[in-house]
Amino acid sequence: MTIQVFANEAALASAAAQQVARALEARPALVLGLPTGRTPVALYRELATLAASGRVDFSGVTTFNLDEFVGLPPGDPRGYRAFMDAHLFHPAGIPATRVHFLDGTAADIDGECRRYEAAIAGAGGIDLLLLGVGVNGHIGFNEPAPGLRARTHLAVLHPGTRAANAGAFGGDPAAVPARALSMGMATILAARAIVVLATGAEKAGAVRRAVDGPLTTEVPASFLQLHPAVTWMLDEAAAHELGPACRREAGQVS
Ligand code: GLP
Repeated sequence: MTIQVFANEAALASAAAQQVARALEARPALVLGLPTGRTPVALYRELATLAASGRVDFSGVTTFNLDEFVGLPPGDPRGYRAFMDAHLFHPAGIPATRVHFLDGTAADIDGECRRYEAAIAGAGGIDLLLLGVGVNGHIGFNEPAPGLRARTHLAVLHPGTRAANAGAFGGDPAAVPARALSMGMATILAARAIVVLATGAEKAGAVRRAVDGPLTTEVPASFLQLHPAVTWMLDEAAAHELGPACRREAGQVS
């Protein structure tokens, strides 16, 4: 595991964008896994800027988003697809034909989950998966629970997670769908490389438990310790509960 700590969110976003740009340069047909949420917004802005100036070429990329709410009509502005269109796909000129998304309106939910797993496998697997982390240690919509699901599945959201997502729903947690589709833990851990982004003091506890705590289904992100190529990109606030020894052992590089 590598831990990189940046002075602020802007420095983190710029370094993360460079990492994506390098991966695309090395492999123009990159299969990229993508998160939503507040955390990646600055990174997506950087990537859009790099694409606009011709410094990064997304024309060969294939993308798979981690998760989507269940039950929102197609094109609903509150859905994760609309978020990605607005923040990355349209500004960076990523054609819709290269974008894969879970369909939260599918009549056959299990079939939709199987379709997604098959599409990822058909693309040759995910080369680089970007992740955010919830304040409770969730990744995608794999919420803390006595057991975790391996593959793409229907997830029931915790009240805190619905509250954290309320921004797009007029600030009302009750308006946030109670269910979502999400890649599972094995889907996530099968990615060849993973970059986890976390900013802000409210993430510090989740980051400490995920990086330095025991593997537990109560902190789904703790299972990232099993992955051979994970980079945590943190700002100072999100890193502040990590002790110096932990930063050293984890191979902190900045
Ligand atoms: C959401 C998403 C996750 C995201 C996380 C953190 O519920 N399902 O994919 O990484 O919570 O969101 P944020 O970046 O807004 O803190």
